[in-house]
Amino acid sequence: MLIAPSILAADFSKLGNEIRDITEAGADWIHLDVMDGAFVPNLTFGAPVVQAVRGYTDLPFDVHLMIHQPHRYISDFCKAGADIISFHVEAEDNVAGTLDAIAAGGAKPALAVKPGTPVETVFPYLDKLYMVLVMTVEPGFGGQSYMGDMMSKVVALKEKAPKLLVQIDGGVNLETIVPSAKAGVDICVAGTSVFRAPSPKQMIQDLKKAASR
Ligand code: DX5
Ligand code: ZN
Repeated sequence: MLIAPSILAADFSKLGNEIRDITEAGADWIHLDVMDGAFVPNLTFGAPVVQAVRGYTDLPFDVHLMIHQPHRYISDFCKAGADIISFHVEAEDNVAGTLDAIAAGGAKPALAVKPGTPVETVFPYLDKLYMVLVMTVEPGFGGQSYMGDMMSKVVALKEKAPKLLVQIDGGVNLETIVPSAKAGVDICVAGTSVFRAPSPKQMIQDLKKAASR
């Protein structure tokens, strides 16, 4: 199981140092949540911030776009140093073209689905996808409760495309990572549980241990 700490739960006043510290604590990827205040009812940051913190780690930057019509910004995020870019299938009119633009920009393409969106909506694009992100909370905010019934989507994806990476995002902690791992999740995003732990390093180790039970 890979752990991708979400910097949404980090201290934004020292974001670079937070990313450096979480790298030293054993993170596998850095998850960066981009919100536009329209697709989701919250605003975070854009490509300039991603670029500003890129130099603080060598870990892959996993950029999760929660914005309308993300094709408008793909080139900006690629240039800012994104390694994996996921966008919401619900938010884009030209899904195939946007996936192609991510690959052309040198990043790995991924699609995300909100809890209410059937996972079958990503099936037409499987041959273009590096990963699917199954949301286990409504996108927009950290600190919400994990929706265990989303694991049926993970199982369906693994049946349909066994080699595809599956990521979940929202409410991952020492308890919820256990059924997630059993369902076949490859990468867990974890915001609150990692950044608010007394020792993020210990928490990352414990999450991996719980996932391998
Ligand atoms: C929610 C974001 C998540 C969020 C997860 O819209 O996509 O990445 O930071 O936070 P926790 O782990 O606190 O649920
Ligand atoms: Zn996210």
